Amino acid sequence: MSDSIEKVKERARKLRMEIETHNYRYYVQDNPTIPDAEYDQLFRELQQIEQLYPQLITADSPTQRVGAAPLKVFSQITHLVPMLSLNNAFVDAEVAAFDRRVCEGLYVGHMEYTVEPKFDGLAVNLCYENGVLKTGATRGDGYTGEDITLNLKTIKSIPLSLPVYDPPPLLEVRGEVLMLKTDFVVLNQRQIAKGEKEFANPRNAAAGSLRQLDPRITASRRLTFFAYGVGRYQDPHMPQDKHSNVLAYLAALHFPVAKECTTITGLQELLQYYQRIAVQRDNLPYDIDGVVYKVNSLAQQNELGFVSRAPRFAIAHKFPAQEAITQLLAIDVQVGRTGALTPVARLKPVFVGGATVTNATLHNADEIERKDVRIGDTVIVRRAGDVIPEVVSVIMEKRPVYTTSFIMPSHCPVCGAKAVRLANESVSRCTGGLFCPAQRKQAILHFASRRAMDIDGLGDKLVDQMVDQAIVRTPADLYRLGLTALANLERMAEKSANNIVRAIEKSKQTTLARFIYALGIRNVGEATAKDLAAHLGSLDRLMATNSERLQQIPDIGPVVAQSIVDFFAEKHNCEVIEQLRASGVHWDEYEGKSVLTVAAAPLSGKTFVLTGALPTMSREQVKEKIEELGGKVSGSVSQKTDYVVVGTDPGSKYEKAISLGITILDEAGLLALLK
Ligand code: IVH
Repeated sequence: MSDSIEKVKERARKLRMEIETHNYRYYVQDNPTIPDAEYDQLFRELQQIEQLYPQLITADSPTQRVGAAPLKVFSQITHLVPMLSLNNAFVDAEVAAFDRRVCEGLYVGHMEYTVEPKFDGLAVNLCYENGVLKTGATRGDGYTGEDITLNLKTIKSIPLSLPVYDPPPLLEVRGEVLMLKTDFVVLNQRQIAKGEKEFANPRNAAAGSLRQLDPRITASRRLTFFAYGVGRYQDPHMPQDKHSNVLAYLAALHFPVAKECTTITGLQELLQYYQRIAVQRDNLPYDIDGVVYKVNSLAQQNELGFVSRAPRFAIAHKFPAQEAITQLLAIDVQVGRTGALTPVARLKPVFVGGATVTNATLHNADEIERKDVRIGDTVIVRRAGDVIPEVVSVIMEKRPVYTTSFIMPSHCPVCGAKAVRLANESVSRCTGGLFCPAQRKQAILHFASRRAMDIDGLGDKLVDQMVDQAIVRTPADLYRLGLTALANLERMAEKSANNIVRAIEKSKQTTLARFIYALGIRNVGEATAKDLAAHLGSLDRLMATNSERLQQIPDIGPVVAQSIVDFFAEKHNCEVIEQLRASGVHWDEYEGKSVLTVAAAPLSGKTFVLTGALPTMSREQVKEKIEELGGKVSGSVSQKTDYVVVGTDPGSKYEKAISLGITILDEAGLLALLK
């Protein structure tokens, strides 16, 4: 090779290394160090070199991640070490039994484990020969999988070559391919825009994207990889002592390893880890379906060995499934507080997300049409955390010959008033207002709810009876209820009646923000109610303020302002408020405060973030206190945060606050500040 081509070759090598380093910083560390334009420039330079000198193209060049020609079929790859599965535990007792078996099998009192998220994606094996990614395969039946090398190469967080000078002759890395929740949302939006079918969940989207014969399609979908182990290897640097060190080694080789992986000791800590991850689950960027416990010592793993196709040294502790399949028996229409008509699926009971589900929301008519849901269909239902269960999709292959389509009623199914759908809205609404018993019930339930007037024990069954028997028509009627009226209701023992009367009495002492929120003014949620209370200081002032002046309050736009003005223009609403006050509902007002004096609120303009548990106050109490004084409470730490209030077991917010140099307060410090 001539001198000059040697130089070009060297430049190409440098560019590849640089580009892969930036890929690592961007896709694995989530911490890019150059602007996109600069990265593009490096990439283009490499492309140009390779166009001029095709003989210089290498298999591990970042240019080779995309654009390979479609395959006809996937070929098969036999795994050098089988890809086994894990046994599952669903309840604590099964985990206890696992821990006991492990300890007894090894004659030890307690065991150290590596604990990891159980990624809900697709298992893959990546085979590196002399440091270069040669093949990548699906798990298949555990012994033989499909060769999806070209597709895996398009995943930017998978290194094409190992960033070391003395690469091992052989290294098999095992892990899971998944789609981040945010990328899933973007993909589905794109699918809708193109008029194509949406994916039911990130796992299906990842599977659909990975099993494409055309790698260009895979390249257009953003997939991610997490490593959780190794297969066969010839690598003098591979740690031989602990699984946690194997993970650390993989991370050093630039493989993504979940930051939730850690080591702990003993059964108690296993169960605590499960609880902790369960709480974080909805906030993790990817879907998981449980956690995995692995004996940390590799020697002890060996000693325990395998039984049939699963290791004795590891177990998956699964979360209750969030999705299940069932039959849709009927579609009813529910009327909400603001008259919105919501179609609700009545389902054959099914156990999902840790509870039996019989109803699931279908959102609105457009959603039903988009998902093509019909009565009689077999559907996938999802119940995640505290979210209302929803019908995700229909299993078309199971559609019976006879199904019935749903038609949105033209009139309210409860009061018979006309239902209308405004041009810019996705829902139809009952026009019956508070004459509609359904809206009235919802208004009362909202009024009594925990974040509003907080009347303990006033549930929907009770409110149904009160409204149906016309003993309560407005929230003000609640304060006129006597023991006798309550005790006459069905299933109401004297003691519960007493409790309710007491709870109603207690609710009379409230805050202005809670009261405003409780009124159920359209478009005025909890945050807006707090803003209004903090900026105006009195209910009379709120009732007298016009739309223009309301809009001077931060975060209040024309739509919200108009809803407020409309609400108080309604004579009936003002009467109810008058009656409530006359019954003794009261709060502290900040007379003398107005839009113009807000800046004088002691914590005005200050943003707080709370993390961990405080010794004497609940989060809710702290939040209320800060907001009363004009401060804001935010969920995440940023440059704009003024104070981070830290309790026991703080989360990553604490570390972030330290790294950004934000003032840290404990409870005592906070109380001093509030004084
Ligand atoms: S270890 C010999 N660790 O779960 C044990 N597997 O039933 C090998 N999975 O399909 C598996 N997260 O893809 C392991 N942190 C994790 C995992 C994990 C998800 C999947 C894996 C396999 C299944 C095992």
